[in-house]
Amino acid sequence: MAIVLTICGQKGGTGKSVVAVNLAASLALYEKKVLLIDADPSGCSTEWIGIDNAGQGHDLVSVFTGKTRFPDAIVKTRLRWLDVLPAGFDLFQSALKLSDRVSNQIILRLLIQEDAPSSYDYIIIDAPSSYGFLSIMAMASADWLIVPVCPQHGAAADFHCLLILIRYIRKNHKIPLKIGGFVCNRCNDPSAVDDIQTFAGPKKSFQAADLVYDTHIPWDLAVEKSIEKKTPLALYDIKSPAGSAFLNFAKEIHKIFT
Ligand SMILES: Nc1ncnc2c1ncn2[C@@H]1O[C@H](COP(=O)(O)OP(=O)(O)OP(=O)(O)O)[C@@H](O)[C@H]1O
Ligand SMILES: [Mg+2]
Repeated sequence: MAIVLTICGQKGGTGKSVVAVNLAASLALYEKKVLLIDADPSGCSTEWIGIDNAGQGHDLVSVFTGKTRFPDAIVKTRLRWLDVLPAGFDLFQSALKLSDRVSNQIILRLLIQEDAPSSYDYIIIDAPSSYGFLSIMAMASADWLIVPVCPQHGAAADFHCLLILIRYIRKNHKIPLKIGGFVCNRCNDPSAVDDIQTFAGPKKSFQAADLVYDTHIPWDLAVEKSIEKKTPLALYDIKSPAGSAFLNFAKEIHKIFT
């Protein structure tokens, strides 16, 4: 059974898609079989991993509408161990329809449990930054939530909102949702990590596996360039500071969750 990690956080631009794509690709380099699910209508992680044929039956909406079976909607990437379930903008319209029923908030969780191929070690979900249906759906699908934070960008407020959503999902869907930890992104100053420790409080109060990961992802131009090239750092520049950090992060994640 795959471990499902949702990369989430209500604040925009913290690096959820960058972390989702590069964590998935780095785990794949370690020969862990990974499925990246793009749950954001902006389709950033679909595009950044190098997929340009989202739609045509190969996306989340086709699975939701029953047009395509879950396993048939999955697309292969240039990395042998990494597959993607893409998303495009029509996910926005699909979400508007699905959001009229609270029970639909667990549609992706149920689809993963019932129909996802059993060969994956990890399923990584890129959640959109909002308080809306898709964000809740992506979070409710997880075993663990991984939260990228930029310490200088209002991480404390983000954490407060995250806890409210976690409580909502736990209460309404009886899901034992847990925070798997915070990863500092665009973080060139490791001392900023202490700030996160301070606002998050004792880890047992919200069942985090490990509060703040040892690995920090630095700000690195290679990230921007790899996005331009629609190629994860694992293939674009694994020796760049961020490329090496993502390799370490994948190792740390694998150690914690297996
Ligand atoms: N470590 C990094 N080094 C350099 N640039 C970065 C880094 N992480 C993220 N960025 C830049 O920040 C931008 C926002 O990152 P990203 O899109 O991953 O955030 P997000 O949380 O997914 O945003 P959204 O809330 O819109 O989904 C990216 O376009 C990228 O250019
Ligand atoms: Mg994103």
